[in-house]
Formats: sequence, C-alpha cells, structure tokens
Amino acid sequence: MPCVMSNGYDITDDNALVIDINHLTKNYNTGAGDITVLKDVNLHVRRGEMVAVMGPSGSGKSTLLFILGLFQPPSTGGYKVAGVDVLSLSRDQQAIFRREMLGFVFQTCDLLENSTVYENLELPLIYAGVRRRERPDRIREALRMVNLEHRVHQPSNRLSGGERQRVSIARALVNEPEFILADEPTGQLDRENSLRVLEYFTKITEEARTAMVVVTHDNMTAEHCTRKCVLTDGYLNG
Ligand SMILES: Nc1ncnc2c1ncn2[C@@H]1O[C@H](COP(=O)(O)OP(=O)(O)OP(=O)(O)O)[C@@H](O)[C@H]1O
Ligand SMILES: [Mg+2]
Repeated sequence: MPCVMSNGYDITDDNALVIDINHLTKNYNTGAGDITVLKDVNLHVRRGEMVAVMGPSGSGKSTLLFILGLFQPPSTGGYKVAGVDVLSLSRDQQAIFRREMLGFVFQTCDLLENSTVYENLELPLIYAGVRRRERPDRIREALRMVNLEHRVHQPSNRLSGGERQRVSIARALVNEPEFILADEPTGQLDRENSLRVLEYFTKITEEARTAMVVVTHDNMTAEHCTRKCVLTDGYLNG
C-alpha cells in the first residue's frame, strides 16, 4: 500500500470499497463550444469486483477510465480511492498512486516502440523498485498468462495487433496492482486468447481480490464480469 494511502482505511478487508465516484461530470471544450460527456456519474467498485462498462462509441467510456486513472481531472464531482480523496493529491502523489496501485491497459496499447517485450514489462518493475534478479520470473509469469512467453525478446514494433494488446495487458498486471482499468482489452483478440485473458482477470479478482473496471463492446467479455454498467447520454446505469 503506497504512503499516499496511509489513512487508516482497511483495504485488506476483502470487500473494501476501492473506487468511489460520486456526482462526476466532464465537459470538453471543443472549437464549436462545450460538450458534456459525463453527467452525474456514480460508480462504486469493491475489491473482488470486475465491472464492465459498455456503451456506444463516443459515449465517454475512455474519458471515464482516464479520470479513474488520474490521467485527466473531472469537471466536477468526487473521487476517492480506498477512502482517499485522490483529486486533492499533488501531482507527485498522484504519480505514486498510479505507479503503486494501478494497472492501466490503454485502448491504443502504447508500447515503447524501440524496445523489446521484456523491456516494456521491466519498466513498471523498475519504477516499483523490484530487484533486478526478481524481474525475469515476474515478467515470464505475466507473459505466460497472456500466452506470449515465446515473444519475450521480440521488439515491440514487430508484433501483431493482438500480440501488442496482450503485451499491454501483461505490462499492466506485472506489478500485481490493487486495481486495474482496462480499455477494450480483448478488442483485437481471437476467441481463444480473449478467453485466456478473461480467465486470468477472473482469477486475480477472485484470488487477489483486485478491483477491476473493463470497458468493452464485447458481450463475452461483459459476461465474465461480476457486474455490467452502460454509459448512454452521459449517464452510467446499472
Ligand atoms: N480531449 C478531448 N477534447 C474534446 N473532446 C474530446 C476529447 N476526448 C474525447 N472527446 C470527445 O468526448 C466523447 C467521448 O470520447 P471517448 O473517447 O471517451 O469515447 P468512448 O466511449 O471511449 O468511444 P470508443 O468506444 O470509440 O472508444 C467523444 O465525442 C469525443 O470526441
Ligand atoms: Mg474509447
């Protein structure tokens, strides 16, 4: 548990509330005026829950995930993680929070282009202070979960779209984060690899009691979740 979270909140409780979003709104300023993408969004996710967020393209799913990952601020509303008002943390504290608590799978699978799969997965371990000799086993294990051990030394710019997606999932999970945000994690995967990833997600939510929010268009992915929400016209229902 990172120092920024040392507030006496008992996150070791198996059902602790991890994500606590209340009355959240988000406006974007576009050339043609303001648009409101999120309106009065409330979301509460406990440890051991894997929540699917569905909704049409452009409905604000990635926006919501970026706010949850503290990559951008909401316009109004409250956001607590494990009882901490994370919106009022300094930028440095927010960076520590992201590094130590969060695993984020980006919709665009932003890998380091001139690096190998190994180097992509090693980076979060270096930031987290994991010793050099412990890293190979952690990296191999994360790659095994996404069926990519044989690509460990491959440069990331020579991977297929689905392989890149699986590396980006492995990179988000290699640090064993407290909570995971995944934007279309199975969007480019075939059924077999989707199932493998989803079974892995289910295992860590059940065994490590991770809290997870998964944005998806895919019904099979949503069915693996413990709960489903739908974002339409700025409102999150379900
Ligand atoms: N930085 C920005 N500035 C202005 N408008 C933005 C910005 N980012 C997103 N938008 C707009 O906000 C709306 C929601 O975008 P968002 O990326 O959250 O949708 P989404 O539900 O993730 O869509 P998709 O399923 O296609 O990934 C869209 O209309 C988009 O054009
Ligand atoms: Mg999106």
